[in-house]
Amino acid sequence: MKILVTGGAGYIGSHMCAELLRTGHEVVVVDNFSNGTQGALDGVKKITGVEFPFYRADVCDSPTVEEIMEAQKVECVIHFAGLKAVGESVAKPLEYYENNLNSTMAVCRAMRNQGVSRLIFSSSAATYRSDNPMPLTESSALGATNPYGWTKIMCEQILRDFCVGEPEFSVVLLRYFNAVGAHESGLIGDCPAGIPNNLMPFISQTAHGLHKELKIFGNDYDTPDGTCIRDYIHITDLIDGHVRAIDFSAKNKGCEVFNLGTGRGFSVLEMVDAFEKTNGIKLPYSIAPRRPGDIATIYANPEKAQKMLGFTAKKSLEDMCRDTWKFQSNM
Ligand code: NAD
Ligand code: UD1
Repeated sequence: MKILVTGGAGYIGSHMCAELLRTGHEVVVVDNFSNGTQGALDGVKKITGVEFPFYRADVCDSPTVEEIMEAQKVECVIHFAGLKAVGESVAKPLEYYENNLNSTMAVCRAMRNQGVSRLIFSSSAATYRSDNPMPLTESSALGATNPYGWTKIMCEQILRDFCVGEPEFSVVLLRYFNAVGAHESGLIGDCPAGIPNNLMPFISQTAHGLHKELKIFGNDYDTPDGTCIRDYIHITDLIDGHVRAIDFSAKNKGCEVFNLGTGRGFSVLEMVDAFEKTNGIKLPYSIAPRRPGDIATIYANPEKAQKMLGFTAKKSLEDMCRDTWKFQSNM
């Protein structure tokens, strides 16, 4: 099958392309390199040995997206393209609403005009309200603490409404928890521009000597060791969830939402400890004040994806730490 991957030069999109090509699908990538890189596309080609069409274009530009779909005759779209830095979204809300909403609507419009009816959408655990009991199910209350999260809630609503108006469509909303790790080759991984906001890239860059130390944001939370707990999911497992969502979209119409998480939480200190033990590296760190907006504990209830997609995360914490370091130490 030929699949359009928006944001395919980014972290998750590049891993998706590698897996689709490995399993015999064709991919067409569109990315404006606002955060993605040519290096990620080169990595995909190196891993798979396959050339694929790439368009450097803005997905908000609906006619261009439509031209690409028309020229390439794709059957399915995976829409990764979006801005994702939570802190930046607070400072630049308009840019986030514009980019994330317009790109999603442009994709829908182009799909409708070109008769492409299957869409997989990157949503986030950032769509859940902070006062939900854990673990989070797909019916936990929605509500964000930052513009980034609101863009995902709004895109989900647009896509639900779109499916009502277009009954032939199949849209799968995937709410990712904390994606970490890298491709087993070490050739592609999470490579944020500038100083990383997220824990795992900061840990691996610190281990590489790019930062003096990791600052752990708060050790006075109501958790066993006082540091925040998150549901970290290996990128390979996350991609497996997408492969299953693509199959699901072939057999089901309408809009369905799934959590993609492991169902197990680890604290920041547990992540540091696992990274040190797995890679035999001592990580310099200190305790810093809490980061505004963080909540103590977040983890998924992954049962719906288990039951309806046959999805189970298989990779261990050690896999996540080893693969993250393999990619970082290659750079
Ligand atoms: P990323 O920044 O590495 O990838 C996004 C890609 O989209 C980048 O290559 C960027 O250049 C491209 N892009 C952005 N706006 C564009 C536009 N208007 N036109 C064309 N290209 C555009 O991020 P990622 O971690 O790979 O995330 C992919 C998606 O998953 C995003 O929508 C993100 O919000 C969502 N998500 C990610 C995580 C995570 O843990 N990484 C968690 C939840 C949700
Ligand atoms: C954030 C976003 C989430 C997004 C995800 C991946 C929020 C509320 N959520 O999740 O929407 O999907 O990133 O982009 O912002 N930490 C440190 N030191 C650091 C960095 C992080 O101690 O230098 C801690 C944080 O306080 C947090 C944990 O590590 O407790 C994980 O942080 P991070 O990787 O940024 O992810 P989230 O905040 O869970």
